[in-house]
Amino acid sequence: MDHSTITTTASPAAAAGVRVGPRSMAVALPDGERTFHHVWLRDNCWCHACRVHQTAERNLFTADIPTDVAPSRAWLDEHATLHIIWDDGHRSAYTSAWLARHDYSDRARASRRHDPVLWGGDVQPPAFDHADVMDGASGQLAYLEALRDVGVAIVRGVPTVPGEVARFAEALGHVREVAFERVHNVCHDPEGYNVAHTPGELKPHTDMPSYMWPPSVQLIHFLVNRADGGESVVVDGWRVLSDLRSDDPDAFAVLASVPVPFQLFSASEDTYAVAPMVQLDAEDRVAVFRFSNQLACPLDVSADVVEPFYAAYRRLGAMIDSPAYRVVFKAAEGDLLTLHGHRVLHGRLRFDPGSGARHLQDVYMEWDDLMARRRVLRGEHRPLPASMLDAS
Ligand code: OGA
Ligand code: ZN
Ligand code: ZN
Repeated sequence: MDHSTITTTASPAAAAGVRVGPRSMAVALPDGERTFHHVWLRDNCWCHACRVHQTAERNLFTADIPTDVAPSRAWLDEHATLHIIWDDGHRSAYTSAWLARHDYSDRARASRRHDPVLWGGDVQPPAFDHADVMDGASGQLAYLEALRDVGVAIVRGVPTVPGEVARFAEALGHVREVAFERVHNVCHDPEGYNVAHTPGELKPHTDMPSYMWPPSVQLIHFLVNRADGGESVVVDGWRVLSDLRSDDPDAFAVLASVPVPFQLFSASEDTYAVAPMVQLDAEDRVAVFRFSNQLACPLDVSADVVEPFYAAYRRLGAMIDSPAYRVVFKAAEGDLLTLHGHRVLHGRLRFDPGSGARHLQDVYMEWDDLMARRRVLRGEHRPLPASMLDAS
């Protein structure tokens, strides 16, 4: 970065605490010097002309900012607020708290990053009382923080009333509707449209990979759980993928690139999507993991990809099904299991339908809505104003 213009009150483009370069400026904030681009600062002006003040939304049309936007003066005042007079006469100001909050240096961005807490087969999912989650902000926040970190939480003592799982979802956010029932019933049903309606084992999986955007949260509420067997299984899919990525990067790359078709249908509904099992985000981290042995359709790829895919899939499947990663527990009646649907796989061991009843209900939600609730409870949803200036 070029800061060849040295601070001097004599310079037309610089003053106390600010070194102005051709396209950016270094600002001496109380806790250290930080650099911001002119275009970024101009775009984030909080004056009455540039912001709709009642909503905090941007009024300035970003594309209208001249490509050579530059300050004619910039200085820090005694409160460490940065003031800029732009070369067209427009004035902006930015408090040091706002600049620190939005500092985009590598170090600042790394300090703001949230890393999930990955886990293996030796943990118990965090558990919370229904009354605490429903009645108080602090109980609800604790549950949401646990979900954010570990991707799974059990709420205990949820009334064993059909439909209660949807009421729970609506108290926290919104139900994500999909084809089939809004509240999905899982019990032994010889006519059922899904393998979950058999008494068989369900290998760890994610639900609805047959949507391009599978539901990102799943709530499973145990109404009756009296049959022998039917223990629940959860697996941290992101932990499995993290280990696979370091142990066998080629296999990981195959799973992140080979499209797999998935389908779930009934007599009157159909869901179908084609996507790699692993989808990465802009920072190359796993964002969406879809794994459903039961819903994967015949692979439709060029012949040279078939065997590498099966080699990678076999390796992944063996990890997912291994005690090193599987957490197995028998859910109590009234337990409500919350899962990050793009991260944590769930399954169950086989049960004996002759030994007693088993009935659970599930609904889906979206992760964004839960994380929004968390930010609101923490008071983080309102943006920090950069300043309050009159239009100029
Ligand atoms: C399902 C499912 C779990 C269970 O219906 O998709 O995973 O415990 N059920 O029956
Ligand atoms: Zn402005
Ligand atoms: Zn499932």
